[in-house]
Amino acid sequence: MFTLFKLKKFFKKEYIRNKGDEFSKMSISLIGRSISASATLKLNEIAAILRDKGEPVIHLGGGEPKSKAPLDALVAAAGIINSGEVRYTPADGIPALKQAIIRYTEDFYNRKVAPENVIASSGAKQAIMVALQAILNPQEEVIFPAPYWVSYPEMAKMIGAVPVPCLAEDGSFYPRLSDIERLVTSYTKCVIINSPNNPTGAMYSEQFIAEIVDFCERKGLYLIMDDIYHRLIFDGRKPINCYNYAKDLTENSKLIVINGVSKQYAMTGFRIGWAVANKKLIEVMTNIQSHQTSGPSVIMQKAAVGALNGVQSSVESLRLTLENNRNVMMERLNAFNGVRAYKPDGAFYCFADFSYYNKDSIKLANFLIEKVRVVTVPGVEFGLEGFLRLSTCGSIKDITEGIERIKWALDPDSPNELYIGLRKLVRDWL
Ligand SMILES: Cc1ncc(COP(=O)(O)O)c(C=O)c1O
Repeated sequence: MFTLFKLKKFFKKEYIRNKGDEFSKMSISLIGRSISASATLKLNEIAAILRDKGEPVIHLGGGEPKSKAPLDALVAAAGIINSGEVRYTPADGIPALKQAIIRYTEDFYNRKVAPENVIASSGAKQAIMVALQAILNPQEEVIFPAPYWVSYPEMAKMIGAVPVPCLAEDGSFYPRLSDIERLVTSYTKCVIINSPNNPTGAMYSEQFIAEIVDFCERKGLYLIMDDIYHRLIFDGRKPINCYNYAKDLTENSKLIVINGVSKQYAMTGFRIGWAVANKKLIEVMTNIQSHQTSGPSVIMQKAAVGALNGVQSSVESLRLTLENNRNVMMERLNAFNGVRAYKPDGAFYCFADFSYYNKDSIKLANFLIEKVRVVTVPGVEFGLEGFLRLSTCGSIKDITEGIERIKWALDPDSPNELYIGLRKLVRDWL
């Protein structure tokens, strides 16, 4: 269903779009020109503007849970604010947070690491960015499965490196090692694996993780495991521990494990993530971070310590809510003739094929906002045209009503009128 050709065309089109005259007039750098705005953040803004105008928006575009941050996090943050002693921290994070991350790594990865193997950053996003800055030279290539998280290509481009998205040859969301293997060149430096995946919710098999760990070790490639959703998985699955398949667990290991509090603890606004890797790499990442942002805010680090060391029940409760929301969303999407939905194994999203209605996902997403005030994210932003990403983070009401509105807007068999609250919509486009 997808081709490499389409993907290359997309990147070329994007590059040409970004080469506009106004950039030349302002002497904007080539790298600056090549970076596009985050699609998801842009959509959050559109949703907020419409809501401010009193529009009955349903936001199925978001990537953050609606639940509250754990009380332990809030109490810890309040404690440091009340003390009035809010200062700089070490560039790689406060010792208490590093200790909490070390314990997390022991609990979930059965691996003992030293404080020098850990860096805390302002979000998993920054941890990934400083890791890429530490390992990639301009022109070097970073491979990641497609569909992919919107930031991977832009992060690579910010370094002058080359993003290489990898579509599974069989058209599924589950790449095989051979799919990755055929993209490796002498410029390849790194592979990024995100499982469960944003946007598809696909959790890769233990066999695939074992193979990719082994392959990267044999080829001397860095492997970034973006495990930000690893506890938010469904149908009785268990998180997969990449270290189980590593032969080299010494300080020469090129395995980098990324995690954070944003998703699992519903703490997206706290901006704390981390990386666990070999000591030398962490030292280099720390040097980079020290000149970039310094250490993350001490208030947020304390909150993260609170969450990591505190009562853990909120994580399971979020996981159960997401699984239930996933089930409801799949049921609704499956009742939709023109839509092909793929059951997510975890994370916050359903990535569904809407190409029957419109092959241009940006046009389709704009149409849905305009006609029925439902926000979705166009698949092309994740490297796959014809799809929409629908978030399962909201309430059941958001999901059912959002999909009902989408169905009404697209399906010619739906009744001609739809009520949104007291507002009557009449369909005049089908
Ligand atoms: C796959 C993936 N990795 C990393 C991140 C970044 O997380 P954080 O909020 O910790 O920066 C996100 C956030 O959307 C994500 O989806």
